[in-house]
Amino acid sequence: MGQGKKYIFFGGKGGVGKTTCSAAFSKCCAKTGDRTLVVSTDPAHSLADIFGVSIGPEIELLEENLYGLEIDAEIERNKYSERIKAQLTAGISPVIIEEIQRQIDAANISPGAEEAAIFDKFIEIIKEKGNEFDRIIFDTAPTGHTLRLLSLPELMGGWMDNLISKRKSALSLMSMIHSGEKAKQEIIDRDPILSILQKRKAKFEQAREILIDSDTMEFIFVINPEKLPILETKKAIEILMKYRIPVGGVIVNRTIPEEYSKGNEFWSKRKTLELQYMDMINKEFPGRVLTILPLLEEDIKGDNLDTVSEHFIKVKAKMLGEKLK
Ligand SMILES: Nc1ncnc2c1ncn2[C@@H]1O[C@H](COP(=O)(O)OP(=O)(O)OP(=O)(O)O)[C@@H](O)[C@H]1O
Ligand SMILES: [Mg+2]
Repeated sequence: MGQGKKYIFFGGKGGVGKTTCSAAFSKCCAKTGDRTLVVSTDPAHSLADIFGVSIGPEIELLEENLYGLEIDAEIERNKYSERIKAQLTAGISPVIIEEIQRQIDAANISPGAEEAAIFDKFIEIIKEKGNEFDRIIFDTAPTGHTLRLLSLPELMGGWMDNLISKRKSALSLMSMIHSGEKAKQEIIDRDPILSILQKRKAKFEQAREILIDSDTMEFIFVINPEKLPILETKKAIEILMKYRIPVGGVIVNRTIPEEYSKGNEFWSKRKTLELQYMDMINKEFPGRVLTILPLLEEDIKGDNLDTVSEHFIKVKAKMLGEKLK
């Protein structure tokens, strides 16, 4: 319990089995005694579907040792802009407040606002709930969306620096009407906009530290033995490595069981193709395949979910990147 990575993200191309793996792996951790939280950061939630219960924006007990949470992007986006409004408008004249609020309302519906809000929530979960759980498992949205989310701290860090230096030069121009260094410094120290920018910057730095901490964090990709998921994941791994976000490995999902591929022309052809893609996987991700899951007869829920989670129990240590003694 408590060994290996604590924060595990499941990612990959649309429809490959991210939600299935997040649900099954969180069940596996809970069954083996880890107090586990499974979080969906995908705006199109489907965790609740798999567990057959409703999961809301507050942490709920799903079964023994297992808790669930679905981040509601809209609620978070509104909370996020309310928070910024409150911080920004403290101590400012009502006319300016109205203008600031208009600006923030406009920003609230701009592209990227949802990502920023989900990101804030995700950092809040790690900071506030990190100590309460042995594992926190994140079911993410398809690759592009998630990569944008994870690259945010790096991108925003640079952007914030820029805004901070612009604000500082504006303030020093404004302070020229005052004589005396003390009065000038006070203008800078008391500026609410500068203070909020600096707070945001510190928050992004903190997020970045969490994301690149290879002792606690890992990103696992789910792929299918098909060309597009392989290529997309290859690119995604390169991007994460560029941002120094630790990649735990890949899970190959939906492989054709041997017994079906024999004596049936259609399935044996598919299997031959699949083996070619398996070669490609081993070449593109050498030593990184964590486990291989078969295609099951039905969608993964109930008993099927148990089968997959039992499978994960056998490879749990490998999935969590535990060092063998
Ligand atoms: N090994 C499998 N055998 C049979 N069905 C599977 C398997 N893996 C996943 N499925 C089914 O495929 C569908 C898609 O799986 P899932 O929702 O986990 O993918 P996803 O990557 O989370 O999709 P999205 O990108 O839409 O979030 C589901 O209906 C699931 O039950
Ligand atoms: Mg999903």
